[in-house]
Amino acid sequence: MSGDFLTVDDLGRDGLGAVLALAAAVKENPARYAGRLEGKRVGLFFEKPSTRTRVSCEVATVDLGAHPVVLKQDEVGLGKREAVEDVARVLDRYLDVLAFRVFRHVDLEGLAAHAAAPVVNLLSDLSHPCQALADLQTVAEHRDRLAGTTVTYVGDGNNVAHSLLVAGAMSGMHIRVASPAGYGPDPAVVIKATAIAADTGGSVDVGDDAPGLVSGCDVVYTDVWASMGEEAEAAARRELFEPYRVDAELFSRAAPDAIFLHCLPAHRGEEVAHEVIEHDRSFVFDQAENRMHAFKALLVHLTGAA
Ligand code: CP
Ligand code: NVA
Repeated sequence: MSGDFLTVDDLGRDGLGAVLALAAAVKENPARYAGRLEGKRVGLFFEKPSTRTRVSCEVATVDLGAHPVVLKQDEVGLGKREAVEDVARVLDRYLDVLAFRVFRHVDLEGLAAHAAAPVVNLLSDLSHPCQALADLQTVAEHRDRLAGTTVTYVGDGNNVAHSLLVAGAMSGMHIRVASPAGYGPDPAVVIKATAIAADTGGSVDVGDDAPGLVSGCDVVYTDVWASMGEEAEAAARRELFEPYRVDAELFSRAAPDAIFLHCLPAHRGEEVAHEVIEHDRSFVFDQAENRMHAFKALLVHLTGAA
């Protein structure tokens, strides 16, 4: 077993490159990897709702010949019915990989500190690294090289934006983030991504000028304005984020062959206009499919089954 995957940089640059190459290979020839994890058991825990992650990770696990155990917070009571560290120590006796979707990133760190098996982040308040793997896999399907590609993320500087910043910087990409003042990415993540980009030839540009930051970019990316757990703020945010909707006018400022991505679920008419998500240069459903290929690649990598 080789380490946890709580944030993208846990893989290291070589590891990220290896997982992305493996994800493309798995997609190209899934049969070659069938049974690669025979006899392994993968826990998939959800403290929040999920469609893509829940299904793509379970299907990926089964396709690799491993056994998935899906758990919900109402049965486990992570940190409530039982202390996080005890849940980790118990599940570690049964399972080979512990994949968790949680509200508090600190709970992932607690699990990782008390389990020998790799702990995988299936989304936390801080990051969504499995999403970033699929995001980069999808970008790579449309560009010769990730390095030098410019991605502009428009909207809330959230978990998805954080992982995109770090993964993009590790891959030598130019990552721009346009958010309303006060809703940009966590400054600590921006500092980390900027430092990584300085080594890879990438760059990080964060601000509130959406048209300026979208101008000439290769990929336009957005996500919901209020994430799971922030529903009470949704109405107030709607007004504030209105100028950050990715509509046809904003999308037209990107490069003529620019693609549109969204981690989904999407709120049409809020963060993205119907004509953009349905545009012939929108690849959001390929991106959703790639969650499955990328998770297979991650499992193979983390369990040393490559
Ligand atoms: N993109 C994503 O993680 O979707 P789910 O919340 O449906 O898993
Ligand atoms: N930022 C969103 C992503 C959902 C996949 C959320 O955390 O709800």
